[in-house]
Amino acid sequence: MTDQALILGIESSCDETAAAVVADGWRVLSNVVASQIDLHARFGGVVPELASRAHIEAIDTVIARALRQAGAVPEQIAAVAVTNEPGLIGSLLVGLMAAKTLSWAWGRPLVGVNHVYAHAYSPRLNAAPIEYPAAALVASGGHTALYRCRSPLELELLGGTIDDAAGEAFDKVASILRLGYPGGPAIDRAARAGNPAAVRLPRTLLRGQSLDFSFSGLKTAVLYHVRGVPGGVRQRRQAAGPARPPSRTIEDFSPQEVADLAASFQAAVVDVLRIKLRRAAREVKARTLILGGGVAANSALRQAAAELAGRLGCTLRLPEMAFCVDNAAMVAGLAWHHLQAGRVNGLDLEAHATVRR
Ligand code: KG4
Ligand code: ZN
Repeated sequence: MTDQALILGIESSCDETAAAVVADGWRVLSNVVASQIDLHARFGGVVPELASRAHIEAIDTVIARALRQAGAVPEQIAAVAVTNEPGLIGSLLVGLMAAKTLSWAWGRPLVGVNHVYAHAYSPRLNAAPIEYPAAALVASGGHTALYRCRSPLELELLGGTIDDAAGEAFDKVASILRLGYPGGPAIDRAARAGNPAAVRLPRTLLRGQSLDFSFSGLKTAVLYHVRGVPGGVRQRRQAAGPARPPSRTIEDFSPQEVADLAASFQAAVVDVLRIKLRRAAREVKARTLILGGGVAANSALRQAAAELAGRLGCTLRLPEMAFCVDNAAMVAGLAWHHLQAGRVNGLDLEAHATVRR
């Protein structure tokens, strides 16, 4: 254990309080996540003020558990890594203050890590090194972005969402369909019994070869379909018939219709993500395709990405399920590369709600 570089990672950018110990940038010795899903579920989304408070309550225990599960004592920790951007500012500050305190108390370097870059690194955890150049799609509740990756630390943003993030669209559509929160896993489950071609929904690709995303039109189309707004999206088999009268609610839909709508929505999101990832892969001349973020847990997206990689002759790197959603192992893993490159921070490290370009 002594000749490995152990890094303690801390993550609190959204609604997961997480800590992990990772050896040499890839071997995960512990990965502790305290989820706040139950706290936010009745609001249908993350309430920032509640999230910050819950982080404060959980963080000491989560860090102590991560050290204990790794069988590590502070003397063995080479650096303290923390997500310092992007995220909810009040949430980020809780992890940052905890990391600064430990860095100071233990006399170990502090390493600030970009949360989205950490998602793009997550397939390396407990797995082989990633071959670069890679095209990475990070899709989560807060982000949908494509990157050209030259190395774990060299990422260039190629495109991002101009409105909702993909995961956010899953969460909002699940709420329209009354499938519960978080929406991604619920839609993924419901879609298994549905027909993805049942409802015609838009694929917003934006102009030309754009690598940006927009999901708000799709979300509205689902809403119109449910409400039956005249002229809105209708089921194919009804396309020739009269428009459904307005003011239907989701309660009027049969379980099969809900499953069909869930499957059709999921297919529309996956189509857009696949097409943009293909464009990015070509632009980057990628050897590897990377998926990261909570939406990378989606079964249809995983399958579409695998087929795409096969057609392009690329290797597809998917994170383990536990490393798709927010976690601190990806933070500690990426921090090892910062440390190798001498990129450490002082106690004046700041938190940023948005990514600096
Ligand atoms: O990465 P993550 O834990 O948090 C953020 O950084 O935002 O991602 C959470 C998001 C949620 O929007 C959730 O609905 C979505 O990931 N998600 C999924 C699936 N599992 C989680 N979306 C689609 N299919 C899934 N199976
Ligand atoms: Zn995330």
